Amino acid sequence: MCGIVGVTGNDNAVSILLEGLQKLEYRGYDSAGIYVNDLHGEDYLVKEKGRIANLTAAVGPEVHGSTGIGHTRWATHGGVSVANAHPQVSEDHRFYLVHNGVIENFKELKAEYLSDVTFTSQTDTEVFVQLVDKFVREENLTTKEAFLKSISLLKKGSSYAFLLIDSNDPDTLYVAKNKSPLLVGLGEGCNVVCSDALAMINVTHEFLELKDGEVVTIKPQSVEIIDQAGNQVDRDSFHVEMDAQDTDKGTYPYYMLKEIDEQPNVMRKLAQTYLLESGKTTVDPALIEDINQADRLYIIGAGTSYHAGLVGKKLFEKLTHIPTEVHVASEFAYEKPLLSEHPFFIFLTQSGETADSREVLVNVNAGDYKSLTITNVQNSTLSREATYTMLLGAGPEISVASTKAYTAQIAVEAILAKAVGMAKEQIVAEEFDLRQQLGLVATGMQAIIDEKDQVEELAKEYFVPATRAFYIGRGIDYFVSLEAALKLKEISYVQAEGFASGELKHGTIALIEENTPVVGIITQDDTASLTRSNLQETLSRGAKVMTIARQGVANADDTIVIADVDELIMPLLSVVPAQLLAYYTSLNKGLDVDRPRNLAKSVTVE
Ligand code: AGP
Repeated sequence: MCGIVGVTGNDNAVSILLEGLQKLEYRGYDSAGIYVNDLHGEDYLVKEKGRIANLTAAVGPEVHGSTGIGHTRWATHGGVSVANAHPQVSEDHRFYLVHNGVIENFKELKAEYLSDVTFTSQTDTEVFVQLVDKFVREENLTTKEAFLKSISLLKKGSSYAFLLIDSNDPDTLYVAKNKSPLLVGLGEGCNVVCSDALAMINVTHEFLELKDGEVVTIKPQSVEIIDQAGNQVDRDSFHVEMDAQDTDKGTYPYYMLKEIDEQPNVMRKLAQTYLLESGKTTVDPALIEDINQADRLYIIGAGTSYHAGLVGKKLFEKLTHIPTEVHVASEFAYEKPLLSEHPFFIFLTQSGETADSREVLVNVNAGDYKSLTITNVQNSTLSREATYTMLLGAGPEISVASTKAYTAQIAVEAILAKAVGMAKEQIVAEEFDLRQQLGLVATGMQAIIDEKDQVEELAKEYFVPATRAFYIGRGIDYFVSLEAALKLKEISYVQAEGFASGELKHGTIALIEENTPVVGIITQDDTASLTRSNLQETLSRGAKVMTIARQGVANADDTIVIADVDELIMPLLSVVPAQLLAYYTSLNKGLDVDRPRNLAKSVTVE
């Protein structure tokens, strides 16, 4: 969701900005733009609707510079148009601004300060850049003073990331952030700004974290950070270990397929990272101790991460005997449940930047509670702000539809639950040979992936012609049904629902018509026959039934049979055919699998 890049002090500013924006494409956007300045009086503003490829094509050979800013916009205020794309520019063409977040009081600011200004866009962003310009012109403020004054007028608690350039002093970049992710990168003879380290990994691996409320002035050779109280801050950089190759699609048509295929390796890697041959784990003992002090665990997540949390509840309760609740982040922040006396919070977030989850973490920290973030992105906001972090190590997940992060989240939850359970001497945790199980999972995943052509045929037969579909299951299979349905709907636009199979007959079965696809997930001994009965009920009403069944409970006529692993971690396998079914449905409908409409990878607004 909206991406920011900036550079000062590098003659290749144009290609750095364009490549950076390309790396941020995965976040979701609908228009993009750059502003560059060559420090000798030439400057260029290029903006386009649609893909970065359109923007790149519009950047003529004359466009050059050593300083500049760029943006991918995901429309909030004002429709998708070149005028509304960023950078936004002041009336006199002196100031250029890119912005993420929402200026909630933009109408009030416009009415109070800018009634004499002619606006060229419908964006809240333009209000900010016109304000800066106004304060410089009319109040004789320096650019920095005007920038600070404009920030001070924003509604308290607003979320924003600003990157401003003054064409009268173009090698200085002015940066401010609150709640919205933004990093400064330290290059050789140049410095950069980006929403995600991925965007600038070809320029530098050294980054500076920015905290909420900080304002930064960046020149080619210096970075000055001022905190909320106006004090200068000295901060060490952190090193981001990332191979630029990780973000390449290679020979795959879409990232989603590559990421599905990577799952067996992710499982093996997690086993190696966290599980020792001795049966012990490498999980931080202080984290285990803090969880053991808790009387209740609260798992927080959104979308797919929430679904991984549901499986986590089962794992934690079974292996640690600590009662566990799972909450949708956007609900928890405003409908806070009654907390236990000693709660411990676990945040699941692939990106580590989801605004809804972050809002909960801010409150958790305000209450002085301990927390863990399980994330794929080292040094992401939720990772930095939680007490502990466990990394998924799944490699960058670029496709909007989350696949390998979901399975990695479940595997890490299992590892943590085992570690805590062993510390509590729970026999079930001690006897759970997770290292061996994850090896079996990797093999089982590979077997499904190897049969992907058959899954494509099923997708064509069942889902491509459908407008509506259901995944059903009980218990842990129901949790996977929710994820399977989300996957299908978000990239194929087939209206899909995940249902507790016993609940269908209490209303929703009315939607079953001739040929409505219903997929039953059947992996648990104690519920297999019940789910089969529920499938039968839909069959009698014309449904086109498919089954994904674990070998140990499979029948001869099951559609997809998956390997036997411990029932507790069956979601690691049962979700894979569902991921492939969603992928091939989208592909065969001619849709853009990796960038479904209206969606963003990193959802940084509440
Ligand atoms: C999954 O396919 C979705 N793209 C989405 O539900 C995602 O899981 C959600 O937005 C949460 O993101 P996070 O894991 O980065 O916090």
